[in-house]
Amino acid sequence: MSSILIVDDEEGMRKSLAILFRKEGYQVYQAGSGEDAVSLLSDKEIDLIVTDMRMDGMSGADLLDEVRRTGVKMPVIIMTAYGTIDSAVEAMKKGAFDYITKPFEYEEIVHRVRKAIQSAETDEEVGTMRAAAAEVVDNDFPMIIGRSLAMADIKAQLKKIANTDLPVLITGETGTGKNLLAKAIHLNSPRFARPFKAVNCTSVPEHLFESELFGHAKGAFTGAVMERRGLFEAAKGGTILLDEIGSLPKSVQVKLLGVLQDNVIRKVGSDEEVPIDSRVLAATNVDLLAAIKRGEFREDLYYRLHVLNIHLPPLRNHREDIFDLSEYFLSVCRSRQNKADIAGFGPEVMERLHNYDFPGNVRELYNIVCRAVALAETSVISCEDLPITAHAGSSPPAEISETRAMKEWEKKIIIESIRRHPNNLAEVCRDLGIGRTTLWRKMKKYNISFEDRN
Ligand SMILES: Nc1ncnc2c1ncn2[C@@H]1O[C@H](COP(=O)(O)OP(=O)(O)OP(=O)(O)O)[C@@H](O)[C@H]1O
Ligand SMILES: [Mg+2]
Repeated sequence: MSSILIVDDEEGMRKSLAILFRKEGYQVYQAGSGEDAVSLLSDKEIDLIVTDMRMDGMSGADLLDEVRRTGVKMPVIIMTAYGTIDSAVEAMKKGAFDYITKPFEYEEIVHRVRKAIQSAETDEEVGTMRAAAAEVVDNDFPMIIGRSLAMADIKAQLKKIANTDLPVLITGETGTGKNLLAKAIHLNSPRFARPFKAVNCTSVPEHLFESELFGHAKGAFTGAVMERRGLFEAAKGGTILLDEIGSLPKSVQVKLLGVLQDNVIRKVGSDEEVPIDSRVLAATNVDLLAAIKRGEFREDLYYRLHVLNIHLPPLRNHREDIFDLSEYFLSVCRSRQNKADIAGFGPEVMERLHNYDFPGNVRELYNIVCRAVALAETSVISCEDLPITAHAGSSPPAEISETRAMKEWEKKIIIESIRRHPNNLAEVCRDLGIGRTTLWRKMKKYNISFEDRN
């Protein structure tokens, strides 16, 4: 008998789910908070967790983090309130198996629970999502996908850097994952349980910057009717990310330098010194050295922030990861858009993605996959669902760049389609979005015959 742990701070919800799941034949445990769930997990055998997202104290996402940190691979289903879909997507990225929005029909949750338990029992390959989640569990780095040498190197640096308390400057083109990496540094550091606060330096007006970062005393300036904590204080014990640091106004650069040198902050309009206890990370996609030459960025501040540096490579320099990233984003978008019927990418889609240069890097790939999932009319995503043409970007020819993983995957998807449509070549072609000649050529290439349908 499989066992389910229900975590919800609403007693009514918990009880009614418990009745429902018992009726379905599952053994049920209940916890009224994330903390209680964690202690239950240590002495009960649990096969699946169904948890509310928003709870006082430990949230559903925190619980998920905790479960993944211990290396346990049980599926976790997150329940979110209507209108908070973003947090659900975040949870999927962290390796949740599925999510469901409240209010839901009982059949729906039963169905999802059954699916999750089944796949946990039978599969290694069911969810690419779960495979991805398992991979990140093994590496201790939630969310960062990529097995190329370049990304392995990033993960190795992350591991070393996370444990120090030194400032880190994260550089890289737009969309390469700088924010993601900052979050990962925090989550893998001893400060992980404390707040992570980010400020985007392009979005704060110059005259409010100081107060935003360091806070202000009551009456410090017109409109300062109450004392206010700044981000440094809000991130106490945790990590603060100064995003797009290249846009920090020069007047604030001086102040920040002083703070980093003295390790204390002063609220605007106050003389009291408060020691800072937050780790400082900064990110930028502009060339700060060039900005220094132009006189726009202070050199002394640069060296304060640049104690450690991680540079994220553009996606075109680690094309090997396009495959894993696409599969991962597919699973995220599939649940986000409720298109469970989408089986995967058609042949040639991967080839085309693999040969594209991605000026917007990983973010662009993510957007392309989301768009394709939305547009796809068949269960297999085809090249028509992509906004890029065959010759976009100047890349090596397909033969050279085609990886073993891609070939295995292409073979798999063709065999699966033949199984779905035995004796119906036309359906297989339609399903895969390719012509008969191409299908024939590929079947020959991979040594697939119609016997493979069995
Ligand atoms: N290695 C990765 N694995 C999984 N997701 C990734 C990876 N790299 C980036 N992403 C995703 O791509 C998107 C863009 O990443 P992020 O916002 O961190 O980029 P950025 O470098 O901060 O971009 P910008 O310079 O425009 O601010 C996010 O949705 C992020 O989760
Ligand atoms: Mg960013």
